[in-house]
Amino acid sequence: MDTKLAGSGSRELVLKTWNDSGCHTHLVGCNATRQALLIDPKAGKRAVYDKALADWGLTLAAVVDTHTHADHLSDSAAWIRRGVRCHMGQATGCQRAVTRMREGDTIEVGRLRFHVLEVPGHTPDSIALAGHGVVFTGDTLLVGGLARADFHGSDPARLFTSVTTKLMTLADSTLVLPGHGYQDVLFSTIGTERAKNQALQHTDGDAYAAALRAVAGAGNSPDVDATLALNVAADPALPDTPVAVAACCSMGAAPLAGHKVREQPCEVLAPTLAQHAAQRTWIDVRDPWELATDGRLPGIENFPLSELGFALERLRAHPPEVLSCKSGVRSATAVKTLVYLDVLRDPISMAGGFGRWKAAGLPVA
Ligand SMILES: [Fe+2]
Repeated sequence: MDTKLAGSGSRELVLKTWNDSGCHTHLVGCNATRQALLIDPKAGKRAVYDKALADWGLTLAAVVDTHTHADHLSDSAAWIRRGVRCHMGQATGCQRAVTRMREGDTIEVGRLRFHVLEVPGHTPDSIALAGHGVVFTGDTLLVGGLARADFHGSDPARLFTSVTTKLMTLADSTLVLPGHGYQDVLFSTIGTERAKNQALQHTDGDAYAAALRAVAGAGNSPDVDATLALNVAADPALPDTPVAVAACCSMGAAPLAGHKVREQPCEVLAPTLAQHAAQRTWIDVRDPWELATDGRLPGIENFPLSELGFALERLRAHPPEVLSCKSGVRSATAVKTLVYLDVLRDPISMAGGFGRWKAAGLPVA
């Protein structure tokens, strides 16, 4: 298939984010060279990543673990075994053959260059990657809050300072791609977090730490300790099947103002398709290769969910009224994300998605 995918346009990078029980993995590819970087891969998901690389026409050049994870098993050892270079922060205790990155270092993949920011606090070895209008924040700045800071080695005041003195100096338009999302908002922007993130309203790190003491976390459970031990081991034997997440990595985040997604089934929306197509007020958020293999809604534009952040100006200027995907899950996530970002007000998510549309015998291009 054509590897210059429709959703990628002429941008420098392509992006795919997976949300697995609130745990994010990001695949970022160089549109020109088709080299790719995988950020925070999880054990048991290699087939998923391999398929995505093939679908995008990408070759994996490097892996990053943004920190030593306490909540899930990293798959970096398997990628190192496959000859892929792996990067972590210089303070890591990981015994694998990882390249240890310091503040100001860059990670280059094809023509992409990401600057390493050392952002300790959640863990001593946390790093973030900034470049090309995005920042991969790992477990530091999350949507609407900060990551947990009650594990052994955590330091809430340091976390607050890392976020406010490094991440929050980035441009307001910078897309925030966090390591976790427990409230079905996939990404944010620095400007939105500056305005809405309650954790950032504290005056300084000490005030944030004092506030957290009032909601003391559980600290290291036996599950967390077992996960940490495997994640620093040189070459652990891990199953290549999905492994349950051991802990939540968010703490102190106020629940986001919940948006109740308005849903309508395809049978109700079908008579309006031609009108929406003519007015460009319906978007399909599936990945481009799904349209190529499964079919598409006649006349409807494609904006993949993972890449909606690159289209915020277009979506603001020309707001879609209906969003659809394959089953209705991703279009609901897209609605929640775009409403949180104040890009859309109250669009409709098509319940049952394109799968139900096709099964109902409705027109397919
Ligand atoms: Fe974490």
